[in-house]
Amino acid sequence: MRDSPVRVILVGAGVRGAMWAQVIGEAADASLAGIADSDEARATRARDSHAPAALVARDLAAVLDSPQADADAVIIATPPSTHHALVSRALAHRLHVLCEKPLSEDLDEVTDLIARARAARRHLLVGMNFRYLPSSQRIRRYVRTGELGAPSYAHFTYHRQRDGNRDDLNDYVMSMAHPMLLEQSIHHFDLLRYCYDAEVESLVCDTWRPSWSTYAGDCCVSVLIRFENGVRANYLGTWTAAWNRMHFRWRTEFEGGALIQREQFDDLVRVDFDRGLGLRGPNFKGDGEAEAPVVEPLEPCTPFVDDTRGLLAEFLGACRGDLEPVTTAGDHLESLLVVQACIESLASGGWVTLQELRDRCASRPALARPTGEGPVLGGEPS
Ligand SMILES: NC(=O)c1ccc[n+]([C@@H]2O[C@H](COP(=O)([O-])OP(=O)(O)OC[C@H]3O[C@@H](n4cnc5c(N)ncnc54)[C@H](O)[C@@H]3O)[C@@H](O)[C@H]2O)c1
Repeated sequence: MRDSPVRVILVGAGVRGAMWAQVIGEAADASLAGIADSDEARATRARDSHAPAALVARDLAAVLDSPQADADAVIIATPPSTHHALVSRALAHRLHVLCEKPLSEDLDEVTDLIARARAARRHLLVGMNFRYLPSSQRIRRYVRTGELGAPSYAHFTYHRQRDGNRDDLNDYVMSMAHPMLLEQSIHHFDLLRYCYDAEVESLVCDTWRPSWSTYAGDCCVSVLIRFENGVRANYLGTWTAAWNRMHFRWRTEFEGGALIQREQFDDLVRVDFDRGLGLRGPNFKGDGEAEAPVVEPLEPCTPFVDDTRGLLAEFLGACRGDLEPVTTAGDHLESLLVVQACIESLASGGWVTLQELRDRCASRPALARPTGEGPVLGGEPS
């Protein structure tokens, strides 16, 4: 346990890194020791806005080599292709790491990083900040308390016309083979796993690219998922739509009612199921023929800021030794296996069972290596 602020190095000061700089800069229990970006002007901008005392450099190595930037932890917000090298370097310096998603596009690299974190006895977390949206926390609470009975099935829809040519968006996604799966759906799969408190048992998937898409790869994803606790989820996510307005809807049916999230942020309604109502009228209208939805009171939330604060609190608590983190690389591997199962289902045209992928993964050299400590898939030891 320590009382002084956790000293953090931020790598990457682009779209996401700028948000991290703001959130770390405002945190009372953290301080920004250094900011590295290969585009030094971006690092300088982040420093000037949020952390005047931070050291600025073009790469992580230069910050690590400077005695001025004596740090406890590193947060990495660079493109996925750079994550393996940067996380490895930070762990080699025995620093705790939080890396943005996806930890890597290559499962061998992911398992290698989990093994490195374990060997260094350092925490490795991943940027699954949407877990900390008040709506996500509320859905998870309903599932865990059983207040509405057991969850049964769900429909998750995310339509966004994300024009990849916009100046204010990153461009590395333009050439990815599976931009939607690896950059966006990974968040949704993580939310489904986290909120339903269950792992995926099997799935069948299709992905495709509409003719007007700005992306080279598939940016439409449709998946039917069976969870180990029996929940079924029907998922459709896209970055190529024919309407510029965002459309988000996540509806979960429980035995005793439904939870419906109608916006990506700040919204959740609850319906208490009244079986007797079905005995009267055609039930096609809301006016008295159906149960009235009740708005769930949620904490106000600034998207990408308050949820990132929640994740930062988990990371800082882990760095201080106050808590055992749950948003770990081992946990993230499960979401990456869901992505991998989607890609394999696309190739085979059939259902893919997750346990087969887990078994294959556990026998990879990095994870099969005996460490004498900690679970093979799961958290990292403190
Ligand atoms: N969790 C979230 O809500 C969320 C949101 C957006 C992006 N992301 C993730 O954040 C990461 C970055 O995405 P982005 O949109 O900020 O991209 P970006 O292109 O806007 O920014 C990346 C920055 O990294 C710098 N960079 C690249 N290689 C580097 C290296 N080796 N060392 C130092 N700096 C380097 C670039 O100069 C750039 O400034 C990705 O993994 C992305 O998936 C997460």
